[in-house]
Amino acid sequence: MLRYGPGDHNRLHQDVYGDLTFPLQVLIMLSTPDVDFTGGESVFVEQRPRQQSRPVVARPGLGEAVVFPVRYRPHRGARGVHRVQMRHGVSAVHTGRRHVLGIIFHDAR
Ligand SMILES: [Fe+2]
Repeated sequence: MLRYGPGDHNRLHQDVYGDLTFPLQVLIMLSTPDVDFTGGESVFVEQRPRQQSRPVVARPGLGEAVVFPVRYRPHRGARGVHRVQMRHGVSAVHTGRRHVLGIIFHDAR
């Protein structure tokens, strides 16, 4: 369970711990955006080789889930399918409290 208050944010990162990591993870929004909090967008950044990073912003509503890659996602390029690095984070919360359930499937020690 993750709780963010005013000014809280999460830098771009990957949740990779231990030797085994399931490739997908989940977040479930437990607060109502624009009512319980403002700001606090879920940010995903794709890093493709020899290209500028590409950000994607998600604003799940109360009870909505986002399934996203822990580390890589497949991308079909000119020379076939390859994997691109993904990192995620949270933009700063401006007001209120943002509660999120984060589920990671890995072999942590
Ligand atoms: Fe994370």
